[in-house]
Amino acid sequence: MEFKALYLLFFVLVMALFLYIRTKKNSSNNEFHSLDDFVLNIQRESSWANLGYWKNSTQYPDAARHLATLLGNQLGLSPEHNVLDVGYGCGDQILLWKNDYRVASVVGYNNSTIQTQYSMSLCKGLGDVILLNKSAMDIDSRDNFHRVIALDCAYHFPSRLVFLQKAHKAMVTDGQIGLVDMIFRFDKATLAEKLFMRLIFKISHMPSENLWDEATYRAHLSDTNFKVIDFHSIGEWVFLPFQSFIHQHHQSFHSMTRDKVWRKFLAASRVLSWMYKKQYIDMVVVTATKQ
Ligand SMILES: C[S@@+](CC[C@H](N)C(=O)[O-])C[C@H]1O[C@@H](n2cnc3c(N)ncnc32)[C@H](O)[C@@H]1O
Repeated sequence: MEFKALYLLFFVLVMALFLYIRTKKNSSNNEFHSLDDFVLNIQRESSWANLGYWKNSTQYPDAARHLATLLGNQLGLSPEHNVLDVGYGCGDQILLWKNDYRVASVVGYNNSTIQTQYSMSLCKGLGDVILLNKSAMDIDSRDNFHRVIALDCAYHFPSRLVFLQKAHKAMVTDGQIGLVDMIFRFDKATLAEKLFMRLIFKISHMPSENLWDEATYRAHLSDTNFKVIDFHSIGEWVFLPFQSFIHQHHQSFHSMTRDKVWRKFLAASRVLSWMYKKQYIDMVVVTATKQ
């Protein structure tokens, strides 16, 4: 290996280690999934925490809601459906499923205590909604859901494969699962880039066993006895617009929250955009039927 490449690798490793130690230190008392995303919603009374679907939106709350409706429409949510929503964030999507799609019931799983507490107050008074402070790994397989939803979150679960297996058991036959999820492809990345990304994913609570490319994702769905209905990319309308939004939003509202929170959003959106431009990641909408 050339001296320049070795030097770059060393630099990347030192930077990544520095970032890792700082994040560990900062997050020792806090949950990783918190209420920090509130700052993205400043202009509206909402609390979305996804990357948004920016095709026809210029404001974050609209883009975040569009990402949810994209999935809700794809799953054909309707009043006959008992829904399992895993990774429901701060509860905005629960309001959407109940108020706009009029689904019969929702059971939610979220492993963040602070988000669960907030969601419970947001959704107070909604009938047939149960919000649990539990992990995707603890889904009760005795249930009979018609629809299972994982909106911009399954890549964070300790094991996406175990989630698919548990979700499958908890559904009626012909029930559908829908995910807005990230896929990954590292075959063209250099060693230094791979090491850098591995560390970023570790810091971002994205377990390495979830870093599937499209073929692996489809194979796991099929092995779990799901039949794919739709699998399409929406990355074009997610990563780069989200980065532009964060940049502008920071300029307009930098005094509204701590620098530490802004640094997290600025760094995350920049790194995600870089990975997307390099074609190492993509965002997809996936729907599949239980066989
Ligand atoms: C990027 S946020 C998306 C939140 C929400 N779906 C939205 O669109 O606003 C990821 C969510 O997944 C949840 N999550 C992460 N790991 C989880 C797990 N193991 N079990 C359940 N929820 C989890 C987080 O607490 C967070 O609410």
